[in-house]
Amino acid sequence: MAKPSSRYVCQSCGGVQSKWSGRCEACGAWNTVVEEPRGEALLPKGQKLAGARKLEFSQLVGDSVEPPRRQTGIAEFDRVCGGGLVAGSAVLIGGDPGIGKSTLLLQGVARLAGEGRCLYISGEESLDQVRLRARRLNVVAAPVGLAAATALRDILAALDGPERPDVVVIDSIQTMYVDTLDSAPGTVAQVRASAAELIRLAKRRGFALFLVGHVTKEGAIAGPRVLEHMVDTVLYFEGERGHQFRILRAVKNRFGPTDEIGVFEMTDRGLIEVPNPSALFLAERRGDVSGAAVFAGMEGTRPVLVEIQALVAPSPFSTPRRAVVGWDSNRLAMVTAVLEARCGVSLAGTDVYLNVAGGLRVSEPAADLAVAAALVSSLTQNPMPAEAVVFGEIGLAGEVRQVGQSEARLKEAAKLGFSQAYLPAGKRKAGPGESGIKLIELARLADLVSLLDDGGTSTRPARRQA
Ligand code: TYD
Ligand code: MG
Repeated sequence: MAKPSSRYVCQSCGGVQSKWSGRCEACGAWNTVVEEPRGEALLPKGQKLAGARKLEFSQLVGDSVEPPRRQTGIAEFDRVCGGGLVAGSAVLIGGDPGIGKSTLLLQGVARLAGEGRCLYISGEESLDQVRLRARRLNVVAAPVGLAAATALRDILAALDGPERPDVVVIDSIQTMYVDTLDSAPGTVAQVRASAAELIRLAKRRGFALFLVGHVTKEGAIAGPRVLEHMVDTVLYFEGERGHQFRILRAVKNRFGPTDEIGVFEMTDRGLIEVPNPSALFLAERRGDVSGAAVFAGMEGTRPVLVEIQALVAPSPFSTPRRAVVGWDSNRLAMVTAVLEARCGVSLAGTDVYLNVAGGLRVSEPAADLAVAAALVSSLTQNPMPAEAVVFGEIGLAGEVRQVGQSEARLKEAAKLGFSQAYLPAGKRKAGPGESGIKLIELARLADLVSLLDDGGTSTRPARRQA
């Protein structure tokens, strides 16, 4: 039987179907299935391949040099990029609308403009709007080339001219369109085609390319993930609307580490770097309240201290609420389950609210112990010692597990004036470590619960026995 000449491929997940449908059978996305012609196999069975050139293989040792980097001078930004911008690299900056992507990039190119040719192409705002922002950011004097355009044909022609640009910002990729495609700007096909053309040119001419990409409600950069594969670096700019802190996070970087974060504060004069985020995140902390614990976390190579707040309250609902901001709700479910099953703490019939203060999103399992401390502290109404930090992972058997980089965490805590740490029991000798902090080692989560419960006298009403 002859094979059908085309197949139907979901542009979002890559699932293959034999028929077209409005909704992908594999991932459930709508309007992503596209007909693709089936090419002939390159290497037919039992035949030699004709017309191929010989491929030379070389060794891993060789004298390739580190790519030259261009520093913006915004230290938080450069660190996230792995030490500066690499010529010919493509960087995708994703984030919610209004979070500050345009502001960040305008400030960035304004800093770079003195050393090279920087172009800022806006498809979203008019020139007047960009100029107004530049005035607000106090960067009007920077020699940035500004244009408002969305037709990729015009943009490519301008970028491929005799004078080579060094840094180009496309704000945003969703507004660009290639006129050889029928679909509307912002569709997967347009976003992918536009990005591919721009990236190809950036590699050929050797300029650093920034693509701004809006994030959809589901949290993916629109153009469902296709862009992430095409670019060298993916940065997310995030933050809570109500807070002025903004965090730039590398999620993929071919030229540097991921997990690095840069912390900024959005002010009325643009973004300002925050060289010491721990102090900022702890600024509004009151040490003497129950339901709070300071987590000594790591973001990439940098220790960051944040306050984790919990509120455990009797629930008026038949199905109690579990609400989390800044942490993983599945992880919270696990910690509450371990508290119930291994430590005799009953959370039945209570609502649990958990919040990472300051708008940071914590993803480390090392936060488990701090979350548990905040929960137990709220439940027993005993505050954690104000001068203590907490870190450690919790296992399902109720054990407290080791986490990496303890010394860096302790050092940061000492720097910020903390004098105690609750941490996993382990290789270290008890007593003050190198940082001079008093170490309270915990082998099991139940040890923490009994420390906070102080004999149970003050806690009887709050702590119910099953
Ligand atoms: P913007 O950079 O336009 O966001 P994005 O490009 O991610 O959509 O940022 C817009 C927000 O930032 C807007 O709500 C106003 C605020 N903002 C300040 O608070 N201070 C400033 O100096 C600037 C330029 C913007
Ligand atoms: Mg913008």
